[in-house]
Amino acid sequence: MKLVHTIEDLRTALRPFDAPAFVPTMGNLHEGHLDLVRAAQPLGDVTVSSIFVNRLQFAPHEDFDSYPRTLQADCDRLERAGCDVVFAPLEKELYPEPQVFKVHPPADLADILEGHFRPGFFIGVCTVVMKLFQCVFSEAKGPRHALFGKKDYQQQMVIRRMVQQFALPITIVAGETQRAADGLALSSRNGYLSESERAEAVQLSLALRGLARDALAAADALPRQLAGLEARAMHALATRGWQPDYLTVRRRADLQPPQASDASTPQSLVVLGAARLGNTRLIDNFEI
Ligand code: PAF
Repeated sequence: MKLVHTIEDLRTALRPFDAPAFVPTMGNLHEGHLDLVRAAQPLGDVTVSSIFVNRLQFAPHEDFDSYPRTLQADCDRLERAGCDVVFAPLEKELYPEPQVFKVHPPADLADILEGHFRPGFFIGVCTVVMKLFQCVFSEAKGPRHALFGKKDYQQQMVIRRMVQQFALPITIVAGETQRAADGLALSSRNGYLSESERAEAVQLSLALRGLARDALAAADALPRQLAGLEARAMHALATRGWQPDYLTVRRRADLQPPQASDASTPQSLVVLGAARLGNTRLIDNFEI
């Protein structure tokens, strides 16, 4: 496995290949990332991963400075998972000057849910992903694939739409969320949890499963009853000491609230949630 730190070295390393399959990450890798790396291998002739903690997608009060940076352990894991090239640029390589050209995703998809609670988050994500795509795919001549985890459900939808609108010749592949034995979605931020918080953390996924069950049971009256069901699920988490941002049922196609016409196709829905436990903000979702 080759580790490169500059865009020039990355392009040199990828020049002999036609069809990169790319897994962008911010490092501190877990099984969810490694699963994407393994899924990438049959899709191309070289498997590439990036490790870059992207300042642009963090608000000033968020955890950019404390985000775990574990390059050596990440490289060991990537090598064992079959990655061929790791791109780990320094900040001054990717942003040698303030990044003033930015990708602004559409409000209907990017200013709701995560984008509502983390304003500017998807601008930062789209901008860095667009830039990483330019670095990784510029030498490609064959099929190009990029893989994202469904744990960041809205993120992979925003990126899919960006790729479609800019006519980028890249196929976006979404990988299933990997979970711990108790059902907690794997996340780099789980490492922030204390022992007691870690034991409690699974309650977010349980609350979402409960909300999905309630929504299915009330499918016929869904648009009318939904606000009540969501409020009840959020209240139940709040009474356990969580600070929920949202627990909600949305359409998979556009992340908008379901309409009466969606009642007959509950499999077109997804439940999504974000909540803070102590100082740690967790997100999760389930496709119904
Ligand atoms: O999901 C992530 O880890 C990040 O948002 C991404 C896609 C690597 C962009 O920084």
